[in-house]
Parts: sequence; structure tokens; C-alpha cells
Amino acid sequence: MKAWIVGDYGHYNEVMHLGETVRPEPEGADALLSVNVIGINFPDILAIAGTYQFKSPLPFIPGMEAMGEVVATGPDCPYEPGDRIMTFSGIGGIGAYGEYVIAAPGNTFKVRDNMSDADAAAFQTIYQTSYFGLKVRADLQPGETLLVYGGAGGVGTAAIQLGKLFGATVIATASTPEKLEICRQCGADHVINYVSEDFVPVVKELTDGRGADVIYDPVGGDVFDKSTKVINWNGRILVIGFTSGRIPEIRTNRILLKNISLIGLHWGQYYKHEPHLVAEAQEVLYDAYDRKDIAPIIYKEYPLAELPRALDAIESRESHGKIVITA
Ligand SMILES: NC(=O)c1ccc[n+]([C@@H]2O[C@H](COP(=O)([O-])OP(=O)(O)OC[C@H]3O[C@@H](n4cnc5c(N)ncnc54)[C@H](OP(=O)(O)O)[C@@H]3O)[C@@H](O)[C@H]2O)c1
Repeated sequence: MKAWIVGDYGHYNEVMHLGETVRPEPEGADALLSVNVIGINFPDILAIAGTYQFKSPLPFIPGMEAMGEVVATGPDCPYEPGDRIMTFSGIGGIGAYGEYVIAAPGNTFKVRDNMSDADAAAFQTIYQTSYFGLKVRADLQPGETLLVYGGAGGVGTAAIQLGKLFGATVIATASTPEKLEICRQCGADHVINYVSEDFVPVVKELTDGRGADVIYDPVGGDVFDKSTKVINWNGRILVIGFTSGRIPEIRTNRILLKNISLIGLHWGQYYKHEPHLVAEAQEVLYDAYDRKDIAPIIYKEYPLAELPRALDAIESRESHGKIVITA
């Protein structure tokens, strides 16, 4: 089968090549999927560079998210040939950048009939992450104000849509007018270009001086540093990721002063520690998709052979929403 193979850790344009490799065989409860669409995620770049939380042993096929059809099963597999499945793993990825992938049952969901292949490949990571952040970890309440940094990105777009679904007033930041328009399309009540202006006084003004109740932060760095200035009394700051490239630090007196909570999220680990919560969330999210309350924003689809272009678009900060690859 054809797959993108990483021979050494480094920049994807230098260490990853499209090659032929052996098709994996399903064992136990596994299913083998013929991949229809691959979902691209920012951490894929880190995994290839060897700087992600989990290092895949070399050589490896990157990619943590895909959807496809079951073509073979292990003896204990709950799925049937022909079933449409979405699958994910953040722990070293699943080898999604190829024509076939093994789907382990704990990390998979049957795709509902009304969902397109592209939406299925784009769905799981962004909505599950934002659901767990906003609902399970920060307990966002109707009427509260949610501030989403990097609102036009993959998890950002999902956070805006879910924030509105949960009854919050949503303020979103992004770096260009085009991205601000994407935030508005996702339902943001207010948008701020956080590159061309200081978002602190704007958020203060929009909240009558109180600040946001919940901050959703996939960016980190300088943006995170301003969070304690725009958080309300009893506010919750969600640490989602560090696309800015800098993991920020905070003096704990700042947490004390406004009675705030700094909340970490590692969604992928819920599969290991509390998998029933992931399954429950998926039903809620599928129902929201059925009602058209949420829908992935697909920036572009590329063929498998042009996959590095998708990573270029993410790395250069050009893309918005999700990029998917047709295999
Ligand atoms: N905690 C978890 O469980 C979990 C789960 C999934 C993903 N994540 C993390 O969430 C983050 C976002 O992932 P994603 O797949 O949604 O990424 P994405 O689609 O590329 O979006 C990231 C956003 O970050 C902003 N950004 C700011 N500075 C940037 C820079 N120097 N380079 C690139 N982007 C920059 C960009 O928006 P602007 O241009 O508008 O600033 C971009 O839209 C990643 O750090 C990822 O690891 C965490």
C-alpha cells in the first residue's frame, strides 16, 4: 500500500516520503480500514518532528485521525466489512497517512449515514476536544462569556460552535480579516484581530469590565500571558495547546488574586482513563451535527500525494478550520 513514511525526526518536507509498505493485518478486536479521508491535525507536525508528547518509534507512518470502510477484521472485531468507521489516537498516532489503517475498537466510532466522509474525518478530534474542554473541564454555563483564542483554527472553530450551543456569549480572536469572518460564520458574537490590536481593552469593554468567564487557549505564548488580565472573578482558563511555539509560565499569585482556575486538558487520554465519557460525548456531538448545530469547516481537500501541502498550510498559518486528505 502507499503511505507517507517518516524515516527520521525532523521537518516533514525533509524526513517524510511517499512510499510502498506492507498492508497491516487486523488482529483480535481490530478492524482494517480502507482509508477514504484523513484528518490533518496540528500535532501531526510535532509528531513528525519528534517533539510531541508521545514519540513514535522510527520508521513510522504519521497521522492520528481518519475515516474509512472496514475491509477485514480480527476474530473479536465488533464491526462488519463495509461499515464506515472514524478512528483516532493521539498516543503516537495511528498511521493514518496511508491507504489502509488499523482501527482499534476503543478509539473508533461508526459513522452515521447522514455524515459525509470528509466531515467524519474532520469530526472527532476538534469536537471531542472542545466538548471536554468547555463542558467536562470548565463547566461552561449559559449566559457566561467564552473567549476563544485562535478561533478560526480546527479546535477553535469547534469551540465557538459548541460555546454557542451551550448558551455562552462568544468572543473570538484570530490573525486576519478572513479568519475573523470564519469565526463569525461559526457563531462568534464578537471578533477581535489579536495581531493588529490589543484584545485586552476590547474584551474588558465587551464585558463591562468583568472579563471572560472561560478562556479557551490553543495558542499559548504571549496570548496566554494576557489571560489573567481578561479573566473574570471565578474564571477558568483552559490550557489546550501551544501553536505559538512557546509554552508559557505563570506566577501562582495571579491565580489566587481573581479566584481563577487554570485547567489542563488532554482529551486523548480520556480513551484510556474514562472511555465511557468519550462515547457519551460522541452521541451528544452526533445529535448536535444531525440538528445542524455544529458542522466542521473544511478549508481544503488534497489528494494523498499532495499531503505535505496541507501541513504547509497549517505551519504557515494560512489555513482555517480543518484540512482533509482523500486517500
Ligand atoms: N489538549 C488537547 O487535548 C488537544 C487536542 C487537540 C488539539 N490540541 C492542540 O490544539 C492546538 C490547535 O490544534 P489545531 O489542530 O486546531 O490547529 P490549527 O487548526 O492549525 O489552529 C491553530 C491556530 O493557532 C493559531 N496560531 C497562533 N500562532 C500560531 C503559529 N505561530 N503557528 C500556527 N498557528 C498559530 C492560528 O490562528 P491565528 O492565525 O488566527 O492566530 C491557527 O488557526 C494544537 O496545539 C494542538 O496540539 C490539544
